[in-house]
Amino acid sequence: SKEVNAVIIMFGGSGDLAHRKLYPALFGLFQHGVLKDHFAVIGTARRPWSDDHYQQIVADSVREAGATDDQAIAAFAAHFCYQSHDVTDADHYVTLKQLAAKLDDQYEVGGNRLYYMAMAPTFFSTIATHLKSEELLTEQGFNRLIIEKPFGHDYASAKALNDAITGTFKEDQIYRIDHYLGKDMAQAILALRFANPWLKGVWNKDYIKDIQITLAEAVGVEERAGYYETAGALRDMVQNHVMQLVAYLTMDEPKSLTPEAIHQVKAKAFDDLHRYTEAEAKQNFVRAQYTAATIDGQAVPGYREEDGVAKDSMTDTFVAGKILTDNPNLAGVPIFIRTGKRLTRKSTQVTVTLKGGASPFGQVKGNQLTIYIEPNEGYTLEINAKKLGETTTLEREWLNMRHEPQAVKDAPEAYERLIGDVLAGDQTNFNHWNELAQTWRYVDVISKAWAKDQTMPTYEAGSMGPKAAFDLLKAGDHDWYWQP
Ligand code: BG6
Repeated sequence: SKEVNAVIIMFGGSGDLAHRKLYPALFGLFQHGVLKDHFAVIGTARRPWSDDHYQQIVADSVREAGATDDQAIAAFAAHFCYQSHDVTDADHYVTLKQLAAKLDDQYEVGGNRLYYMAMAPTFFSTIATHLKSEELLTEQGFNRLIIEKPFGHDYASAKALNDAITGTFKEDQIYRIDHYLGKDMAQAILALRFANPWLKGVWNKDYIKDIQITLAEAVGVEERAGYYETAGALRDMVQNHVMQLVAYLTMDEPKSLTPEAIHQVKAKAFDDLHRYTEAEAKQNFVRAQYTAATIDGQAVPGYREEDGVAKDSMTDTFVAGKILTDNPNLAGVPIFIRTGKRLTRKSTQVTVTLKGGASPFGQVKGNQLTIYIEPNEGYTLEINAKKLGETTTLEREWLNMRHEPQAVKDAPEAYERLIGDVLAGDQTNFNHWNELAQTWRYVDVISKAWAKDQTMPTYEAGSMGPKAAFDLLKAGDHDWYWQP
C-alpha cells in the first residue's frame, strides 16, 4: 500500500473506542505500510498521562486485538505522544499546535493533519471552533476531520453540530463515520445487487415480497448506561447503521463507483423514504426494553436494573419497524428492520424474500436470499428444487456460501478500512450532511410519537424481542427470517 504522511490528533485518546478499535486499526495500517515512517499520533484527553504510559496503553490495545509481533508493536507505539488537554481551554490548543508542528518536523510529515473526534459528543463543537480560532489547520498538506457518532441527538442538534464543524472544515474535509459502511459484507451488498444481472431483474416491487434487516446483539448496555440512557436503540442503531443498510438495499443503480455517483443515489434513497405522520410512526414502529432472565444458567439483569439506568427509564433497548420507500421501483415493499440489546445472539443479517406463486408444480414459496454481515459473512439462497429420485416432488434447498473464518480475520477490520479511506482522501463510505439530515428527520417523527406514550413494552433478555415485533409482520402475512 502507498504510504501516507500524517500527524493524527486524537481527541478521546484515553477512551474505550480508541482502545478497542482505533489503535488496532492504526496498527493494521502500519503493518500494511499505509502508515510507515512519516506519521505521529497525538492522543489527547483530560487525564495526565506520560508518553511512556500512553505508549504502553497503545501497545496493550493492539495486543488485546490479537497482535503478537513485539518488534512491530514497539516500533508503532514509538510514534505516539500524549497531551493532557482541556478542550475548553484555548491555551491548550496552542500547545497542541506546537506539538503537532514539532512532530511534523521530526517525522518529515509535510503538513498533513487528521483530526479525530472520538470522545463525548458535547465537546465536538467546542473542539471544531477552537481548531479554527487557534489556527491549527495547516497551510500545506491536507486537513481532514473524522467525526464519530452520535452526530447529534435529533435533527436540530445535528444541524447545530454540522454548522459548528463546517465553520472550520469544508465538506470535502469532513468524514462523518458510520463503521457499518466499513464492513466487508455491507459493501458487498452493492456488488451483489449491481453485478448480478438476474438479481437486478427481480429487485423491484413485482418480485420482492419484503426486505428484512436484523442487527441483533447479545450484550446488554454494558458500561455505557450514561450514554445509552440519552440515546436508546433508535438513535444508537437505527438512525445510522440500519438506515445505511436501508439505503444500500433501496437505492437506484449508481452510474459508476465514484464517491459522487454513490452519494447521489444514496441521498436520493434517503429522500425517497416514505415519511410517516406521528400516528403512522406509532403503528409502524415498536420499541421495548429487556427484562431480567437466566441465560445459560447465568442471571442477567433487566435494563432498569443495570448500573446507571433510571428505575423508571423510558429508553428503548429494542426497535422494530416497517419502513417504506416512495421510490417507484420498490413502492409498497415493506422493509422490516429490528435491532436490540440482549437478543438471542449477535448477528447482523439481511434477507430479501421474493414472492411465491403458482407454478406447474403447484403453489411454490418464493426464493429467499440472505446476506450474512456478521459475525458470519456470506450468503444463502433458498430455492425450490426437485427431490432426488422423484419426478415432481419439490423440496427446499439452501445454497450456502460463507467466507472462511480465518480469511475474515485476516481481512482489514471496518475501522482500518475507513481510516485508510480517509488517509487516501476517499469519501465514498462516509456520510454527507444531507444524508444525515434526512435520517434524523425520519427518526425524529418516531421519537416524538414515543415521547407522548407512557407505555414501554418489554421482552425477556435472550429472546428475539417483544411479541409486538412479531405481530408487526404477521399482519401482512410476513415472518421474520432467522436462520443461523
Ligand atoms: C455502535 C453502538 O455504533 O455499534 C453500539 O453504539 C453497538 O451500541 C455497536 O454495540 C455494534 O457494532 P458492531 O460492529 O459490533 O455490530
